[in-house]
Amino acid sequence: MREYSIAAIPADGIGPEVIAAGLQALEALQRRTGSFRLHVEQFPWGSDFYKRTGAMMPADALDTLKKFDAIYFGAVGAPDVPDHVTLWGLRLPICQGFDQYANVRPTKILPGVTPPLRDCGPGDLDWMIVRENSEGEYSGHGGRAHRGLPEEVATEVAIFTRVGVTRIMRYAFRLAQARPRKLLTVVTKSNAQRFGMVMWDEIAEEVSREFPDVAWDKMLVDAMTMRMVLKPQSLDTIVATNLHADILSDLAAALAGSLGVAPTGNVDPERRFPSMFEPIHGSAFDIAGKGIANPIATFWTGAQMLEHLGEPEAAARLMAAVERVTASGVLTPDLGGNATTRQVTDAVCDAIHSANA
Ligand code: IPM
Ligand code: MG
Repeated sequence: MREYSIAAIPADGIGPEVIAAGLQALEALQRRTGSFRLHVEQFPWGSDFYKRTGAMMPADALDTLKKFDAIYFGAVGAPDVPDHVTLWGLRLPICQGFDQYANVRPTKILPGVTPPLRDCGPGDLDWMIVRENSEGEYSGHGGRAHRGLPEEVATEVAIFTRVGVTRIMRYAFRLAQARPRKLLTVVTKSNAQRFGMVMWDEIAEEVSREFPDVAWDKMLVDAMTMRMVLKPQSLDTIVATNLHADILSDLAAALAGSLGVAPTGNVDPERRFPSMFEPIHGSAFDIAGKGIANPIATFWTGAQMLEHLGEPEAAARLMAAVERVTASGVLTPDLGGNATTRQVTDAVCDAIHSANA
């Protein structure tokens, strides 16, 4: 029996609801396949923890997490705690402390989901967005001086390093190479940003020579938004900076039908540290506690986690169950249905149990 240790951090808003659903589906998979075992430990960190203790997580949290094979993360953010406190207190220190430099965001239109674009169905949109996750516009460099005075100044410095850009390009080219179409689009803004983005383009060109079988092109980020909407079929794997990919992946999620299905993996490709898997949607306090959060992003990121752990068959089984359920029309309100989190979760668990082979 293959065994893995998982740290679950449900955190804020709908995080606990969707992580509970995800763990239920993972449990069903373990019973169905009998070939692996997840040992899950839950950590009560997040905004409530912050209100009690003054910190989003304990000072030695990274030491605690380091021993796990993967992290299953819910969502962070609360209406009564500033966003930069919650984000920089929990999720970003884990991403940065564990050098999870590749943020991987698969997007496709699931069967049964009605996307907003006319004439665009499953198969027309099947993308892998690779987001640089360790530097760029999110590097945390900058500062404020003369606070509150008329001459106050704030800087937010985007950092691009040769090491950082090279490794994310290599990751993206390798991922594109492993997909059937072997097609990569490098997103840039080197017309206006003439230092970091010009180096980004040069390194893309250099790394591309290691992957002669991958067809690649370059798009300015503004033009990219139009191409995503007007010619979704022309894209496959996409690599972009931290901020550009943050924005493009929300557009991608909307084009695929709902942010409620969009998953993400924060991956350390070198496996020095645990990687972290989470739904993209965030804490969604407006629907927290109502039992209607869409658990599909959390199932999908659970599949990403299983793949990363080396359980691709279980991952495929989970996604097949999810697709059977969406195709059958058991959908939460964000997808136009009226099912609850529990109904979708039970349907996915049933589909796992009843699937052949
Ligand atoms: C995401 C989210 C986060 C990000 C927010 C919560 C800061 O939008 O995962 O895309 O921008 O990284
Ligand atoms: Mg985002």
